[in-house]
Amino acid sequence: MIALSAVSYRYPGTQRDALHAIDLAVGEGELVGVVGANGAGKSTLCYALSGYIPHFFGGTVEGGVQVAGHDVTRTPVGELASDIGLVFHNPFNQISGARFTVLEEVAFGLENMGLPPEVMRTRAEAALAATGLADLAERSPFALSGGEQQRLAIAAVMAMQPRVLVFDEPTSQLDPAGTRAVFEVMRRLARPGGTTIVLTEHKLGWLAAFVDRLLVLHEGGLVADGPPRQVLASALDHAWGVGATMYARAAQEVLARGLLPPQPLLPATLDQAVETLR
Ligand SMILES: Nc1ncnc2c1ncn2[C@@H]1O[C@H](COP(=O)(O)OP(=O)(O)OP(=O)(O)O)[C@@H](O)[C@H]1O
Ligand SMILES: [Mg+2]
Repeated sequence: MIALSAVSYRYPGTQRDALHAIDLAVGEGELVGVVGANGAGKSTLCYALSGYIPHFFGGTVEGGVQVAGHDVTRTPVGELASDIGLVFHNPFNQISGARFTVLEEVAFGLENMGLPPEVMRTRAEAALAATGLADLAERSPFALSGGEQQRLAIAAVMAMQPRVLVFDEPTSQLDPAGTRAVFEVMRRLARPGGTTIVLTEHKLGWLAAFVDRLLVLHEGGLVADGPPRQVLASALDHAWGVGATMYARAAQEVLARGLLPPQPLLPATLDQAVETLR
């Protein structure tokens, strides 16, 4: 569903690759997390997958970017929009300002798709329900909290039912309950035959518990790609600026005090920690 081959990208007027020689293949229905330090290239990767690079940001992309059957660098963003959805890091940027209610805002994105009104309504209501916004359907989009706006941006993109969803820090403004709701929605959508999802995220514990696969970007390069527990364990031995989950830290502390025999693999989730410490 996603195939990047030797992809490098430099923003206009800069001297360094923001993405460097990235090879990546993601299959249909996978839920893939992307981590990395500030400036590692996570947002840039999101823009490259959804065509905002190069079409909005300019610059030139080297290598091949194939997503949902499109040659992304050669296809206008408008044509990509029904197959590839992007939710930006700052949800406020994504509210159109053209509609008066939350429900209308979600339906707005569907208006260009030529769907019958009752299908638009059903899809919009389902997306609001899935993101916990059903009670706010008649509210103005501008009278929402940051977290609610973030969920609205997710609902609006979800309602278009693209084959590939790209989320840049979708839970950055959400409390633990909102974060759980978003991860559960992503997990429901991403399944064999379902939506392919790539998300960037700093909340390692949630990634470890929910994603199929974790990528690490470091200075624009893809330096790790695998099951989240393995990748997070490997991140502890590298200066990628990724950090560790609290469960890995707790296990490290227990190991350091000699209370546990050396472990082949540190835990990354609560369940794994319980298993390790038992
Ligand atoms: N519009 C731009 N023009 C020029 N350089 C940019 C632009 N946007 C990002 N960069 C540079 O590209 C690199 C990657 O930035 P990017 O925003 O992708 O990082 P990130 O991993 O998303 O970081 P964060 O965790 O802070 O969101 C950084 O060196 C950044 O300074
Ligand atoms: Mg970013």
